[in-house]
Amino acid sequence: MKHYATDRLTLRQPDLADVTRLFAIYGDPETNRFNPAGPHADASVSMQVLNRWREHWENHGFGVWAIEEKAKPGIVIGFGGLGWAEEEGWGWIVNLGYRFSPAVWGKGYATEMGQGAIDFATERLAVEALYGLVRPQHEKSLRVLRKLGFGEVGTLEDTPGEPASLVLERPLR
Ligand SMILES: CC(C)(COP(=O)(O)OP(=O)(O)OC[C@H]1O[C@@H](n2cnc3c(N)ncnc32)[C@H](O)[C@@H]1OP(=O)(O)O)[C@@H](O)C(=O)NCCC(=O)NCCS
Repeated sequence: MKHYATDRLTLRQPDLADVTRLFAIYGDPETNRFNPAGPHADASVSMQVLNRWREHWENHGFGVWAIEEKAKPGIVIGFGGLGWAEEEGWGWIVNLGYRFSPAVWGKGYATEMGQGAIDFATERLAVEALYGLVRPQHEKSLRVLRKLGFGEVGTLEDTPGEPASLVLERPLR
C-alpha cells in the first residue's frame, strides 16, 4: 500500500528525492532534543536511513511514510509510520515512530498520522499490537501515544548511563 490518506495528510512511500527534506528535518537539533543519537550529522546519514526504510518497504510492503499536507502537496512536513524492530526482551515488534518539522507542530498531525497507522495496521497487518519507545522525559511524545490508546507495559535499557526508555503498547484487537 504505497499511499494512505487521513483527513488532512497524505502518507506515502518515501522516494530517493526525499533525502533533502529528511536531512532538513532529521538534521535539525530541535527535532532531536530527546533523541540520544542526536541529529543526522550530514546528508549521507539521511541517505543511509532512507535506504533502510526503502528496504523495509520492499521486504514488508509497509514502513515509514513521507508525510505531506493535502492542502500543500509536494512539500514533506515529516516522516513517520511503522517498522519491524527486534528489541531486547521484547523480540520482534512493530513500532510507531514520527518526526515532524517544527513548523507544523501543534496542529495535531502526529496524532492524525498515528491514528492512520493504527487503522492501517488493524486492516492490513497480522499483529496483535503496536509499540512505541519513548524517552521518559519526552512529555509531548508520550501525550501523542496516550491519546492514541497506547499504555505503558515496561521499559527498555537502550541508552547506557541514562534512565530506561518507556515501552508503550496499543492492542489492535
Ligand atoms: C512529538 C511531536 C511528534 C508532536 O507533534 P504534534 O503534531 O505537535 O503532536 P499532536 O498531534 O499531539 O498535536 C499537538 C497539539 O495540536 C493541537 N491541535 C491543533 N489543531 C488540531 C486539530 N485540528 N486536530 C487535533 N489536534 C489539534 C492539539 O490540541 C495537540 O495538543 P494537545 O495534545 O495538548 O491537545 C513533534 O513535536 C515532533 O516531531 N518532535 C520531534 C521528533 C520527536 O520527538 N519524535 C518522537 C520521538 S519518541
